[in-house]
Amino acid sequence: MTGNEIYADFADVYAKGSYTRHGREVAAKMPEVLGHLEHRPQKILDMCCGEGSFAVEMAKRGMRVTGVDASERMLEIANARALIAKVTDHVRFERRDVRVLRYDGEFDLATCWFDSLNYMLTTDDLGKAFGGAARALRPGAYLMFDMQTIHGLINHTRRHEHWIERDSDGIVDIHRAEYDEDTGIASLHITGFLHVGGGKWRRFDEVHRQRAYPEDTIARLLEESGFEVVQSSGNLDGLADLTMEIDRMWWVARRA
Ligand SMILES: C[S@@+](CC[C@H](N)C(=O)[O-])C[C@H]1O[C@@H](n2cnc3c(N)ncnc32)[C@H](O)[C@@H]1O
Repeated sequence: MTGNEIYADFADVYAKGSYTRHGREVAAKMPEVLGHLEHRPQKILDMCCGEGSFAVEMAKRGMRVTGVDASERMLEIANARALIAKVTDHVRFERRDVRVLRYDGEFDLATCWFDSLNYMLTTDDLGKAFGGAARALRPGAYLMFDMQTIHGLINHTRRHEHWIERDSDGIVDIHRAEYDEDTGIASLHITGFLHVGGGKWRRFDEVHRQRAYPEDTIARLLEESGFEVVQSSGNLDGLADLTMEIDRMWWVARRA
């Protein structure tokens, strides 16, 4: 798995914070995006599904979703969400490292949202994640994902060298970010305090390491994995061109 038990504790912060908005917003856009591609997926593989917001939203619309993630705590929260939404018959969550997926042509859409693929710290790992997605998809199926660009990762790190977040739900976390120009890896040091009741707080520490890749490297890795690039752009609708200034890029690739 990547890093040292990342999301073991930060999963609770993530699930209670604004981070989950990303998956829900992407889910809300999916009918339009899929309509544009004239694609009607029945079976979705949500890679690095996290706390399951996207997977549960898609399951609510009748699709069968398999969510995979490396973090046990994220998956516990995802299962609880599926239970509350009463979609346990349409979604299942499995603990998997996306670099070693072993599905075989059974899905017609694979997704991987937010910074998940930025956790792939080498081109080899990113290629393995794409390779696993390609094997999991039937020919003609799609892979969609978004990632921070190099510009975005540097910008984000420099803009937010230190910050503190407080949550009314009994969570305080301190973030410190640094970008290593030699390796291209951004490290986010998170020290968090979770309120455990009776005036007591439990401290946790996690270091999240992320890397971003040039557009041509991503395109090459996709092609080597058996994908045709359909779109890489500044937003999911493909309305903005990818320029040096874009912080996040959105990719759509078709399994050849
Ligand atoms: C920023 S969160 C995104 C979660 C979700 N996709 C969303 O949009 O909210 C990144 C997720 O990637 C997962 N992850 C990181 N490296 C992974 C790996 N090698 N295999 C599987 N999951 C991984 C983490 O556990 C975490 O849940």
